[in-house]
Amino acid sequence: MLTFIIILSAYLIGSIPSGLIIGKTFYNIDIREHGSKNLGGTNTFRTLGVKAGLTVTIMDILKGTLATSLPFLLGANDLNEMLVGVIAVVGHMFPIFANFRGGKAVATSAGVILGYEPLFFVIAVIIFFISLYFSKYVSLSSMIASLLAFIYSLVFHTGDWALITVIGIFTIFIFYRHRANIKRIIDKTEPKVKWL
Ligand code: G3P
Repeated sequence: MLTFIIILSAYLIGSIPSGLIIGKTFYNIDIREHGSKNLGGTNTFRTLGVKAGLTVTIMDILKGTLATSLPFLLGANDLNEMLVGVIAVVGHMFPIFANFRGGKAVATSAGVILGYEPLFFVIAVIIFFISLYFSKYVSLSSMIASLLAFIYSLVFHTGDWALITVIGIFTIFIFYRHRANIKRIIDKTEPKVKWL
């Protein structure tokens, strides 16, 4: 029963549509009708500016971290926290509170990693910003960071199969959800960030 409650809670936490809440409450805007139409931090930055974008990104990260902490907080120590984190990421991509039209898995996956091992999160964020500095593409940098995080887990966390499997799943989610971005990068129509 506790396992079921934790899994359901993780899905519901992941389903909290941060971009929709901030956009609707403070700007009366559904960000899914603007920019890339994605319900995520990047599109909130693009559509509503730095304050809203940063708020949504942090909220999306914390959803993953909170969900990952549930087994510890509720005393279900036999339940793998990373697998619970995967459920939150599924909620983020397919949120019950937003007609199942959610984000691209990046920030919430990062939050799961933050909850599991903060140093790993810091490394992924550094890779992301190095890639962003050179490419100016948030989408490409998200994909590169997830792929390198997966390779890093294979090399430096050999034996931690839960971690390796979950980061592999996140990488697949992230690449799959960025199909339109990949096409735009190839067509050279993907927007670049201007502030870096
Ligand atoms: O986190 C999503 C980001 O990688 C791409 O977002 O809005 O440019 O499709 P967007």
